[in-house]
Amino acid sequence: MSPGHSPAATRPRLLDPDRLDAWLRRMPKTALHVHLEGTLEPELAFTLAERNAIEPGSPAFPYADLAALRAAYRFADLGAFLDVYYAACGVLRTADDFHDLARAYGDRVRAEGIRRAELFFDPQTHTRRGVGLSTVVRGLWSGLADARAHGVDVALIACFLRDAPVGHADDPAAADAGFTDPAQATAWATLRQVLEYNQRAPADESILGVGLDSYETPYPPELFAAVFARARAAGLRCTAHAGEEGPPAYIRAAIDTLGVSRIDHGVRCTEDAALLERLAAVHDTPTVVADFGEPHAIPLTVCPRSNYALKVFPDPARSNLLTLLRAGVQVCVNSDDPAYFGGYALENYRAVVDWLDPSFEELRQLARNGVHASWMPPAAKTTLLAEIDAWFAASP
Ligand code: HPA
Ligand code: ZN
Repeated sequence: MSPGHSPAATRPRLLDPDRLDAWLRRMPKTALHVHLEGTLEPELAFTLAERNAIEPGSPAFPYADLAALRAAYRFADLGAFLDVYYAACGVLRTADDFHDLARAYGDRVRAEGIRRAELFFDPQTHTRRGVGLSTVVRGLWSGLADARAHGVDVALIACFLRDAPVGHADDPAAADAGFTDPAQATAWATLRQVLEYNQRAPADESILGVGLDSYETPYPPELFAAVFARARAAGLRCTAHAGEEGPPAYIRAAIDTLGVSRIDHGVRCTEDAALLERLAAVHDTPTVVADFGEPHAIPLTVCPRSNYALKVFPDPARSNLLTLLRAGVQVCVNSDDPAYFGGYALENYRAVVDWLDPSFEELRQLARNGVHASWMPPAAKTTLLAEIDAWFAASP
C-alpha cells in the first residue's frame, strides 16, 4: 500500500453495513477451498438420516437431535472438529444423498457470485464405509449440474486423508461395487479409483486434481510423496493442506516432496521468513508450470472463519491474512467447511472486512488472487479478472 493510503481513506462509501453484504454477495469471486462434506447443514443431515433409516443417536450418526448436533459445534481444535465432521458424514450413503448435498451447495454458489468453484471431497471417508467412489462422484456432479447450467465453472479435487493408511502402489484396484475391505481405502487404492473413474467419465465430469487433508499432525506430507508423484504423472493437479496446525516444515515438504502448486491454509508460514519469501516468488518448476500453464507463485487458500473456529489464531483480529497479502503472498479468501464455521463465501469476506479492515484495493486484490490461484485456463482467468475489475471500478 502506498504511503498515506490508509484503509479508512480508501474505504468506499458503499461499505456501510446495510449495503455491504449485498455488495460482497454479488462481487464476482472464486471458491478454491471448500470441502463438500463440510457444506452438510444440520437439517439436511437429519433429512438424510431419516431417508436412510439411520437412527439419530446411533453409532452411525451419534446425534440424537438438531440441538445435540449444534451443541457439538464448539471445537477446541482441528481434531475436535474432524471428529464431528466424520461422524456426520455417516448419513451420506447413496448417489441421491451426494446429489442433495451438492445441490444445496450449488444453490449457495449461484447466490453468492461464485464464478469458479474448485471443490474438495474425501473419497476415503465414504469408501471405507462401503460407498463406492463412482456413487459419490456421480451424485456430486448431478447435484452441481444446475449451478453449472447457470454458468458456474466447477472442478472437483479428491483429497487423500493423511491419517488413513498410505498402502502400496500395487494395492488392488477395487471394483466399484463394494469397498468393504478397509485396505481399499488407502491413498494408493484411492488414487487408482480416481484414475479409473477418470478413464470412464465424460471429459466434463472428471476429477481435476488431488489434495491432502484431515488431522494434520503427526502426518507429514512426505508420507504421500510417491502417491502424489503418480498422480502428477497421470496429469492431476496437486494441492495440500499444510501449516494449518502443522509447522512451516510441512508447507516446505508439501512443495518439495509432493510438488504441489498451491497450499491450503498455510498460515503458519509467517513463522519462517524465508518460506514467506519463497511462497511469494515466481516458481518455474515443472509442477507449478504444469498446473498454472506458466511460472507462478504458490498461492495460499486462506479460510478466516475456519481459522477462528479452530483456534488457529487466538482472536480474529490476529488473523495474518493481510500480513501475508502485504508481504506479496498470493492469498485468497475461502470458507473451508461453511456449515460448521459460521458461513460461506459472503460471511468469510464479511469477516475479513469486519475483523481486519482492508482497503478497497486490498479487497480487490483478494478477489483477484482467487482467480490467479485457481487452475482455470488462462483465457477464462483473463475474463474473470476483467469482470472483477469492472465490478470494483463501478463501485462508488
Ligand atoms: N482441515 C483439514 N482437513 C479437513 C478440513 C480442514 O479444515 N475440513 C475437512 N477436512
Ligand atoms: Zn480445508
